[in-house]
Amino acid sequence: MDRPHIAVLTSVPSGVLDRLRERAHVTDLSDRPRETWRAVLGDAIGVLSGSSGAIDAAFLATAPALRIVAMQSVGYDNVDLAALRARGIALTNSRGTLIEAVADLTFALVVLAVRRLGPAMQWARSGRWMERDAPYGHDLAGATLGLVGFGAIGTAVARRAQVSGMRVIYHTRTARTDDATTGGAYRTFAQLLGEADCVVALLPLTPQTRGMFDDAVFAQMKPAATFVNAARGAVCDTEALLRALEQGRIAGAVLDVTDPEPLPPDHPLFARDDVVIVPHVGSATSETRTRMAMLAAENLIAFIDGAALPTPVSI
Ligand code: DGY
Repeated sequence: MDRPHIAVLTSVPSGVLDRLRERAHVTDLSDRPRETWRAVLGDAIGVLSGSSGAIDAAFLATAPALRIVAMQSVGYDNVDLAALRARGIALTNSRGTLIEAVADLTFALVVLAVRRLGPAMQWARSGRWMERDAPYGHDLAGATLGLVGFGAIGTAVARRAQVSGMRVIYHTRTARTDDATTGGAYRTFAQLLGEADCVVALLPLTPQTRGMFDDAVFAQMKPAATFVNAARGAVCDTEALLRALEQGRIAGAVLDVTDPEPLPPDHPLFARDDVVIVPHVGSATSETRTRMAMLAAENLIAFIDGAALPTPVSI
C-alpha cells in the first residue's frame, strides 16, 4: 500500500523528517515558494506547519485530501478554525515543549526593558560613551512586573522575576486560585496598568485580545513604565504603541513579536532608541525547536497509526 503523504511547510531538523519518513512519504516544502505548493499538496493527508503562513480556506482548497494539521507551535492564530471544522480536519499543537525557553526569553526582555538596555546599547554605539553615563535604568528588585496572561509561561516568568526580587502582579480573565504557590497577585486590568513598572503581554491572540493594547491602555500605564510583547504582535495596536512612545506616555518597549510581522525595516519603531525588537525568537533554541517539531511529527504519526493524538486541539 502507498504510504500516506505528509507535507512539511516549515523548516524542521532533519531528524524530524527522518522520523516522519519511517511512516510516510514526506515532501519538504519549507524552502519552496508557496505558489508552487498546490502542485504537490493534492494527495497530502497531513501537513506540519509553523505559526506563520495562513492555513485558511484558500490553502485548504489546494489540499483536498487533508485530514490533519500538526502545528510546530503552541499558537494557532494563523489557522482558520471554522474552515478546518467544515472539512473535519484535525488540529494539534506543540504545547508543553517551549515553556522554559519562552519564559527565559520573556524575562530577558523584561531585564532589557527595566534596565533600559536598549537606550544603553544606542549610547555605546553613538560615540558618547565617555561623555557621561548612559541613561540609568531601574533596579529589578522592588519593581513591579505586570503579566497580562498568566498561564504556564507566565508563572515560569514569575519564578524568574521573583528570584530577582520583583513583585509580580497578573491579570487573567478569571483570577487564579493558586496565588500562594505562584507568588503572583491578581489585579483587574486597569489596576495592573496603573501599578506595573513593566507590563508584559503574554496572552493568546483571539478576537477578544486583538488590538487590546491600544491608546487607552497605554494612557493608563505609568509614564516611567515599559511595555514588553512576548505574545503575538496583533494583541498590540502598533500605531498606538508608536504614539505612546512619541508622546512620552510610556518609557520604552521591547518586542519579540510585531504587527505586521516582520515589521518593515524602515518602520519608525526600528529607529527609536527606546525600542528593542527581536524577530519572534521566544522558542528559537535548537533544543526547543527540535522538541516542538518532533511533537508535531509524533501527532502526525499517531494519526497515521489511528492512535490517540498526543496534543490535540479541540476546535
Ligand atoms: C508559539 O509556539 O506559538 C511560538 O510563538 C512560536 O511560534
